[in-house]
Amino acid sequence: MADPQEIVSVLTESRVFPPPKEFSERAHIRGMEDYQRLWDEAAKDPDRYWGDRAREELYWKEPFQTVLDWKPPHARWFVEGKTNLAYNCLDRHLPKLKDKPAILFEGEPGDRRSITYGELSGQVNRLANGLKSLGVKKGDRVGIYLPMVPEAAVAMLACARLGAVHSVVFGGFSSEALQDRMKDVGARVLLTADGGWRKGAVVPLMKNVEAALPNVPGLEKVVVLTRTGDGKLPEGPKFVAWDALVKGQSDVCEPEWVESEHPLFVLYTSGSTGKPKGVLHTTAGYAMNASLTTRWVFDLRDDDVYWCTADVGWVTGHTYVVYGPLMNGVTTIIYEGAPTQPGPDRFWDIIERYKATILYTAPTAIRAFMRLGDEPVKKHDLSSLRLLGSVGEPINPEAWMWYRDVIGGGRCPVVDTWWQTETGCIMVSPLPGATPTKPGSATFPLPGIHAEILDRDGKRVPKGQGGLLFVTKPWPSMLRTVYGDPERYVSTYFSELPGMYFTGDGARTDPDGYVWLMGRVDDVVNVAGHRLGTAEVESALVAHPKVAEAAVVGRPDDLKGTALVAFVTLKQGNAPSDALKKELAVHVGKEIGAIARPDEIRFAEGLPKTRSGKIMRRLLRDVAAGKQSSQDTTTLEDLNVLAALRQNDE
Ligand code: WT7
Repeated sequence: MADPQEIVSVLTESRVFPPPKEFSERAHIRGMEDYQRLWDEAAKDPDRYWGDRAREELYWKEPFQTVLDWKPPHARWFVEGKTNLAYNCLDRHLPKLKDKPAILFEGEPGDRRSITYGELSGQVNRLANGLKSLGVKKGDRVGIYLPMVPEAAVAMLACARLGAVHSVVFGGFSSEALQDRMKDVGARVLLTADGGWRKGAVVPLMKNVEAALPNVPGLEKVVVLTRTGDGKLPEGPKFVAWDALVKGQSDVCEPEWVESEHPLFVLYTSGSTGKPKGVLHTTAGYAMNASLTTRWVFDLRDDDVYWCTADVGWVTGHTYVVYGPLMNGVTTIIYEGAPTQPGPDRFWDIIERYKATILYTAPTAIRAFMRLGDEPVKKHDLSSLRLLGSVGEPINPEAWMWYRDVIGGGRCPVVDTWWQTETGCIMVSPLPGATPTKPGSATFPLPGIHAEILDRDGKRVPKGQGGLLFVTKPWPSMLRTVYGDPERYVSTYFSELPGMYFTGDGARTDPDGYVWLMGRVDDVVNVAGHRLGTAEVESALVAHPKVAEAAVVGRPDDLKGTALVAFVTLKQGNAPSDALKKELAVHVGKEIGAIARPDEIRFAEGLPKTRSGKIMRRLLRDVAAGKQSSQDTTTLEDLNVLAALRQNDE
């Protein structure tokens, strides 16, 4: 892991953009005084602050008495309360919003559906009843492996209605990745589709499911939605057609009133070891903060048409495509496919046609659009937009400025939101009516969020200096454990400084106290906004019969933020070749998914190691970046190895 002192920032950004006056005047939080007041309130009496928020944001079937039970590092929030998240997203809105569109869906081929809150509620209840008929009950785990279609949201909500725990697997993941996750989470039922549309082609979800099935014996039923094919099911008693399952089901399914701490979902995310972690979130604390942060950070109004472009396979899709917007009763856009299909202006076309008011997307997408030039944007009327958001990785100031000027027409505030799968919700972000923004800074922690930059000893680092980002006090939407591995929860997140949550990110503050994120300090890389453990890619490579050893590191990349470079040594009798490079890349794609394919593979005679045999990744990072290493090489086992690697540098 990097030393905090090594984290040096190259940014010197001095531009400041105060919130536009007209925006502030109508905003939920209207100035830094409001922000500061909330912050002070929360810091002074967190129980009261969070307790009030929880009573405001959620419908409670039974009230809670205890706001927080904190036995570090284990938190229980709103302890005695009972609620149901699907009820909060649907039923409580129906008296007023029955006919309001909840979801505006557009498939990649151009098919469109508008689904009202009333219709969505019907679909969720029928599927919940269908799942019940398969024996699904409170606490059972249900896998979801679907394209970005409304049924993905319906599936999540149906699980929440029954108190079943959903575990969504990104549709771009391979059958191996699906299989590992379904086994780990112990899913009884899997909701999937025959396929999905991406870049004009079919993503073969069903084929992947069929390949995974023999290795997941606990999976009893597979419910298949028809999206791309003719509706024919694979042979066998496990398969049930989605349509047949919901047909004739009642559209009333009493919600299961669950305890606040009842598990809501498990979402797998990469860590610094080879095995993804099942991040577990529970019901009330997560739901409360999803609702609150969506309204405050995106300054939601009733008439907003809100578009978060993330896939439901990631946490951003969970919190800011499905739960946050629906809790707030706004209209949320779901788009199935690739950003540039069939042309470079698909996103802008969607914004114009639906008159989207809020766009929340990732820096990697913004940089890709920037490369395509302003022309595709200029063809469309984007005047409906009033707010822009960014998430997933640090956004470089040029991309931030382009986003603001070209997409936002210079009038929309930009909120750069820092958070993680583990935090459940946005943690550090501007509040658009209050916070003067600086391009590239996530600005300040939200009220009640104690995000602090500390050194290894837990001392606050002086302004301007780099350190490690911790969250020093519990917050309602924090992860509760690593599913099936409570030890790993403690060792990954709470052992750097006992009792304090370690984010894995480096950060610094500037003289004005603004927070600047500086990337991961562990062996996790952020490729195109997706988090990957380098160890995971390494184990995939080493699983290939010709590979002896592999080390994977990140290299800065203009488009993806970080690109993956793999250093590979081959087993005796195998010769390096371009064909083999391709074979290995395809192999990694098959083991994990296309996003994990190395951008560059370099064959080496040996890898640089310490005398104790540990691969020296920091050296490889320098080699990959084409930098002369300033790093200490005194512990390097064989200096020739390093010289040879450099020579291979084209
Ligand atoms: C990691 C979490 C949270 C949804 C998307 C990714 C990086 C995320 C930002 C940002 C700088 C960011 C961090 C973090 N990250 N947002 N606005 N500025 N870095 O979720 O897969 O759990 O990844 O993404 O490194 O630790 P995730």
